[in-house]
Amino acid sequence: PIAEHPRLTVIGTGYLGATHAVSMAVLGYEVLGVDVDAAKIALLASGRVPFYEPGLPEKLREALDTGRLRFTTDFTEAAEWGDVHFICVGTPQAHDSNAADLTYVDRAFATLSSAITRRALIVGKSTVPIGTAARLTELVRASSPVGERVELAWNPEFLREGYAVEDTLHPDRLVFGVQSEWAEAQLRAAFRPILDAGTPLVIADLATAELVKVAANSFLATKISYINAMAEVCEATGADVNILASALAYDSRIGSRFLKPGLGFGGGCLPKDIRAFIHRAEELGVGQAVTFLREVDGINQRRRTRTVDVIREMVGGSLEGVPVAALGAAFKPNSDDIRDAPALDVARMLSAEGAIVTIYDPEAMPNARRAYPELSFAPSLPEAVRGAEVVALLTEWAEFREARPDDLGRLVAHRRIVDGRHALNADEYRARGWEYRALGRPV
Ligand code: UGA
Repeated sequence: PIAEHPRLTVIGTGYLGATHAVSMAVLGYEVLGVDVDAAKIALLASGRVPFYEPGLPEKLREALDTGRLRFTTDFTEAAEWGDVHFICVGTPQAHDSNAADLTYVDRAFATLSSAITRRALIVGKSTVPIGTAARLTELVRASSPVGERVELAWNPEFLREGYAVEDTLHPDRLVFGVQSEWAEAQLRAAFRPILDAGTPLVIADLATAELVKVAANSFLATKISYINAMAEVCEATGADVNILASALAYDSRIGSRFLKPGLGFGGGCLPKDIRAFIHRAEELGVGQAVTFLREVDGINQRRRTRTVDVIREMVGGSLEGVPVAALGAAFKPNSDDIRDAPALDVARMLSAEGAIVTIYDPEAMPNARRAYPELSFAPSLPEAVRGAEVVALLTEWAEFREARPDDLGRLVAHRRIVDGRHALNADEYRARGWEYRALGRPV
């Protein structure tokens, strides 16, 4: 039977799962959010989101008010109740290699499938190495008391942090990796309102569905590193990467998005996804096909060291004892996520060279403090820049973009600024007596 309105469970309530659960409930589905973390579940059930995501708290409360969204830590309850189970647990980089750590995914599939006693679909949403879904199909078959009545499908997720709700409700496309018409029909029913709105749907086999996700993130990472490679060339020639990028972007085949030069990409996805992809491709004997992704990673890392080089140059060759204001800690604005954050990497490198670094971020301070107790933090932008010999803009929050050069100038010891994100108006800063530097732009 195909449920008209399947009951949905969402296993794993991090950035991806919480957003998915909330969005589906808002769309009219009955949803049960499940996590092993009881504190997180309690917080969500009380209408609070355990991380910073604009718009999500409001949507969570809206969804809770409808009575369609509930949360639990009980996998058996979820297994008995749900028709379609979405697995949204994390796949971080392994501690000892570039591979993805699949512990959480494996555990979620095993726990759930051993508790399901009726016809159901388990849908993986986590980003995984190609071949994982095929392996999990075997695992589910082996551990399920009802055997082949439990099926597995893959539905990669393309949401961006900071736009998570918008991207979930209005995705560019949906991809269903399925093994039967029944599974496809279940997924169509589970995404009915989004499909009815005209969202393109791609039906694929499991391996292709897994690959779409890593291929998309690899492409995006490559695009960013491409323009940052051009920035390196600009630095050696006196050319201006900003003008270059704007001229390239007019070619509609290239386009302007993800062509913004600067400190490069970070976060919980792009960096670890390209590394896991290289690792998996090597296992599959096609490492050569993605060797270029090593360069993509290398170019990206070099932007961080280059930023430190520029700051060192500005203060005359040594950072020892130099007060530096580091503006930003999150890997991008509108997020409190500090995973592989370029900003914090730069702050750490500066501090390792003896600079007295003071960090300020509008949202990510609690996370940054917890992860780097050895670094110094200021409670506000003015406090961070007070007495600084160099200001380094490392994450392009609106608060930094909108700051007035004179207001900052009155607080610093020297009017020197490195715009790591090409976020400021260089002419305006220079007119106010600032020495302004940005990677890939003439001095
Ligand atoms: C990324 C993808 O954009 C999503 O489509 C994907 O679903 C997600 O990973 C995931 O795999 O879960 P996200 O990590 O939220 O999303 O962040 P992005 O907005 O893609 O930004 C990634 C990094 O690239 C940031 O550090 C940002 O500062 C940097 N970036 C982005 C640039 O340096 N230049 C650009 O032009 C664009």
